[in-house]
Amino acid sequence: MSVFTSSMKVLIPKGRMENAILESLESRGIAFEKAASRSLYYSGVGVSIDIIPLKSQDILTYMEKGLADYAILGEDILAESALNYKVLAPLKMGECRMSLAGYPYFPLSRQSYLRIASKYPIQAAEVLKDLGIDGEVITLQSSVELAPILGFADAILDIVETGSTLRDNGLVEWFPIRPVTSVLVGRQGISGQYAEQEMLLSLLLGALPVKKETGYALCG
Ligand code: PRP
Repeated sequence: MSVFTSSMKVLIPKGRMENAILESLESRGIAFEKAASRSLYYSGVGVSIDIIPLKSQDILTYMEKGLADYAILGEDILAESALNYKVLAPLKMGECRMSLAGYPYFPLSRQSYLRIASKYPIQAAEVLKDLGIDGEVITLQSSVELAPILGFADAILDIVETGSTLRDNGLVEWFPIRPVTSVLVGRQGISGQYAEQEMLLSLLLGALPVKKETGYALCG
């Protein structure tokens, strides 16, 4: 039997985003609690929503398997996935940019071959294509800044928020590729579900810092 008894399960990224999301919901009157200090999920107090923090890659896996209908994820992660999803709202959370970076004074315009290290191989391949430069993508899972430092890449494609990680490692942002934010997504085909879920979704959207953008297209 499932331990999750709520009507709505929302998967969220562990760590910094987890705290920001819970604080935002609580500041608007939706409180959450854990059954025990090492419990792996939060239950809404008086509201039938469970919040489950996971690593972003695991959120995609759970969503692909249909184990949850809703998730909050970065656009950077979604752009690498084959998940069939519907963007319900872009959020004013996890706002940063996807940028190409490397050593200062690197002669990018004179390169005929560029090695890009990235956690985002699909987007890095698109950058190479857009630049019209031949090259290769080196896929890493963390600390991509080390790749140019250790000499096995010329550039990195990564998210930049404050810019401190680049600065502290002697690298600079060559140019931003696109802004990135987090989004509330739903599995395709969830619309028109029963009234309670519609009500909970409205409650969630009212309590999250939704970006007031118009014409946000459905993706996936
Ligand atoms: C991300 C990103 C950069 C850093 C950028 O890494 O990959 O390394 O944050 O943030 P800044 O511009 O504010 O310095 P993350 O903290 O997710 O760790 P990771 O490299 O282990 O994935």
